Amino acid sequence: MDEKVRVAAEKFAALVEAQLARNERIKSQKEFLDFEKLDKIIIGVCGGDGIGPVITNEAARVLKHLLADQVASGRIEFRQIDGLTIENRAAHHKAIPDDVLAQLKECHVILKGPTTTPRAGDPWPNVESANVAMRKELDLFANVRPVKVPEEGIDWVFFRENTEGAYAVGSYGFPVDEDVAFDFVVTTTEGTERIARLAYEYAKKNHKHRVSIITKANIVKTTDGKFLRLCQEIGKEYPDITTDDWYVDITTAKLIDPKRRRDFQVFVLPNLYGDIITDEAAEFQGGVGTAGSANLGKRYAMFEAIHGSAPRMVAEGRDKYADPCSMLRASVLLLSHIGFQQEADRLERALDICMYEEKKLAITGRDTGCTCQQFGDYVMETMARL
Ligand code: IPM
Ligand code: MG
Repeated sequence: MDEKVRVAAEKFAALVEAQLARNERIKSQKEFLDFEKLDKIIIGVCGGDGIGPVITNEAARVLKHLLADQVASGRIEFRQIDGLTIENRAAHHKAIPDDVLAQLKECHVILKGPTTTPRAGDPWPNVESANVAMRKELDLFANVRPVKVPEEGIDWVFFRENTEGAYAVGSYGFPVDEDVAFDFVVTTTEGTERIARLAYEYAKKNHKHRVSIITKANIVKTTDGKFLRLCQEIGKEYPDITTDDWYVDITTAKLIDPKRRRDFQVFVLPNLYGDIITDEAAEFQGGVGTAGSANLGKRYAMFEAIHGSAPRMVAEGRDKYADPCSMLRASVLLLSHIGFQQEADRLERALDICMYEEKKLAITGRDTGCTCQQFGDYVMETMARL
């Protein structure tokens, strides 16, 4: 065998072994954490980079205000977790430094600001994305991203698989020689079934009657084919819900068709398609700055914005004008996840009023609009009126 083929085969064998082991680990997982049974719920607050600390601290301030009674009684504790900055990650040469990971694992849920992902040409070493690493380390397999535009009849919830697909070994592809390079896509039975089940359970509980499976199974036959087939199998267990499936290319088109898009309700999709489609979807609602997301696992959950850390805003001294709405939307999802549905509804209602109805203050990202903190105050004042 050619030496480079042998080296490549060895690298591939190591990836296969690691993924087989991961699939076994998923099998051994138990039920979701029951927050009602916990004496104390620990919420970690992790600012991240760029505009992250400003918008995360603002969302935490609103959350602390809403949960003041629970904090006073000791049922809820907020914990500040520093050290997820690009400077600290670069110094440790790790996507998440060990001591930061240990602190994260002491929490039940985490509110996390955007983190900078190094890419070629950056001054930073090429450490893996902190988002991706956290999703993998805490096995946050479901990325739940709601998008709502009431006046357009849009009310979508995306269930993006969050640990597999193109991301599972995204940093472990390799060039075989100067001319030929490989990356790999991974789909497992356990990994697909758990995201599909969550999507259908959500649909059932929330009286949605349609789940759409998004793949490119006509081309990416093995992994997307498996994802589609397994989701359809799970769908059969929910006879009251209509399952349909779409290829990802036509999905991007249908989402901009005002007559068709309002028919979609719940989507379940592999990692990379979920990444792409949810940015497109968020744009209808006012951009990625307005969308929050839940990263759910059985033991841990992390809530974040769907956008990046906007270092340019900080460089231009505009971070205090950053829009906290994505982190506030993420906070709605956090409250709902830990069982504080009334508080979640109140915050969501206040956000709808401030962002879409009353619009007494506007965030423009610069001094032509209000500051992040002023917007937080506005949201709290609005909640007081509800
Ligand atoms: C997202 C982001 C991340 C992703 C990046 C920052 C690694 O785009 O949460 O959608 O690709 O998942
Ligand atoms: Mg994305």
